[in-house]
Amino acid sequence: MEATWNEIEQHVAACTQCPLSQSRHLPVMGRGSRQADIMLIAEAPGAQEDQQGMPFVGRSGEMLDRLLRDCGLSREEIYITNILKCHPPDNRDPKETEKNACFAYLKYETFLLKPKIIVCLGRVAAQRIISPDFKITRQHGTWTYRKDCALTATYHPSAILRDPAKYEDVKKDFLEIVKKKAEKKCPQ
Ligand code: URA
Repeated sequence: MEATWNEIEQHVAACTQCPLSQSRHLPVMGRGSRQADIMLIAEAPGAQEDQQGMPFVGRSGEMLDRLLRDCGLSREEIYITNILKCHPPDNRDPKETEKNACFAYLKYETFLLKPKIIVCLGRVAAQRIISPDFKITRQHGTWTYRKDCALTATYHPSAILRDPAKYEDVKKDFLEIVKKKAEKKCPQ
């Protein structure tokens, strides 16, 4: 039987598939519109997300909201999730075993949402979803197609916090995403 959103949410809430379940405060399920055409996939919840159980509620979230606003998008019309549903201590890169343990949840989210556009935020997501040798610096803003879905990647909002000069690059990538949405005739 196919899983429903509620079932996935319950599984994520009770997940003990990897050791992060011991150190996390709250698991972080994806959020946003379950009718969205655009799915954003990032790396893993940060410390504030771990406390609140919601994705992108910290400083990266504020940066993401600014970007979305500047490009005429809002959280209400996208779905946003992470490769890992639990916070890795000290914000270290997710381990391969953790990504593998968590991947089924992302697969179910994608299956249920059926997004027309997938946007990977940062290297970790791009290398897991688009290609293991994806180079975010050289390849951000490029497109790959799978079945009816267009995939792209851009810098993670935290990269803009570290280097504000990246803002314009990411904004450009997001404006192309908005164009792609119109090309794919996604309803507003
Ligand atoms: N960074 C991420 O990759 N995901 C979040 O949810 C928050 C910060």
